[in-house]
Amino acid sequence: MKGSLFTTAMYTGQVWVRAGVPCAALFDCSEARMVHGASSFLMAAGQLFRSDGPQLELALLQRHRMLDALVEEFEGKYVLELAAGLSPRGSRFSSNEALHYVEVDLAPVLSVKRALMARTVEGQEVALRENLQFVAGDLRSIDLAGLIPAGEPVLVIGEGLFMYLTAAEQRSLWQRIAALVAGRAGSRLAFDLVPGCEQAPGGATGHLLGKVMGAFTGGKGFALDERTREVLCNELQQCGFVSPRPLAPGDAPKSWRVPHLELPTEQLLFLAEASA
Ligand SMILES: C[S@@+](CC[C@H](N)C(=O)[O-])C[C@H]1O[C@@H](n2cnc3c(N)ncnc32)[C@H](O)[C@@H]1O
Repeated sequence: MKGSLFTTAMYTGQVWVRAGVPCAALFDCSEARMVHGASSFLMAAGQLFRSDGPQLELALLQRHRMLDALVEEFEGKYVLELAAGLSPRGSRFSSNEALHYVEVDLAPVLSVKRALMARTVEGQEVALRENLQFVAGDLRSIDLAGLIPAGEPVLVIGEGLFMYLTAAEQRSLWQRIAALVAGRAGSRLAFDLVPGCEQAPGGATGHLLGKVMGAFTGGKGFALDERTREVLCNELQQCGFVSPRPLAPGDAPKSWRVPHLELPTEQLLFLAEASA
């Protein structure tokens, strides 16, 4: 799968493994360890002169924990995780039989994910769960409405996705998600995106990872632009969401137990509710 964003999923998958995130070990593999090691080396080399810079892995763990907390608090029965990659969230939360978890990613990514799960008894058991569904599809065109039964509230998660999309691609996907959740009271969209104008200049970890990933993925780095968090919230509203708002790790409820709040990180979630 050379030249695809799956490389980035292998990197983040290793971050979840190394941090001991529940179920992450199901997706541990030597190729992902190699990608993580090489990326870490290149980023460390790029940061030699900025040891005080924002720390990427800690920021990733913050977003992952915040999104986990949103699943824990969600009162509906359906979670739709877009571009799930090697995220263990669906495997973890589908242990709750009352929750129906749908993961979407590109077909080759899901093939790898299934193959990794097939290696262990635990993975096989998780893969057989009826309330965990893997849907192969391209988010630029997939029919989202067909994925969740009509009228059911749904929590839509896009982790590590929107920074790779251009502004136009983001708006297009937001419009389609807004159409999916419209009229489903209690539905919500949650995703991470640090506005380009908030990222540290020059040696910012995000830019560095973008460059490293660009090298690995055949040019697909971060799609940075000048939109502020206020502009992004306005766009979410124009796309059909209600009460869009940013949520920084430090502003999350204490009960979420977001880690590493004492260290410099660049992380920001956006939350938005369904229209009536
Ligand atoms: C940075 S990874 C994030 C993976 C996971 N959400 C995480 O945080 O660990 C980006 C993921 O987006 C997926 N992706 C990229 N473009 C996509 C598209 N057009 N349709 C579906 N998935 C896509 C990639 O296959 C990859 O798994």
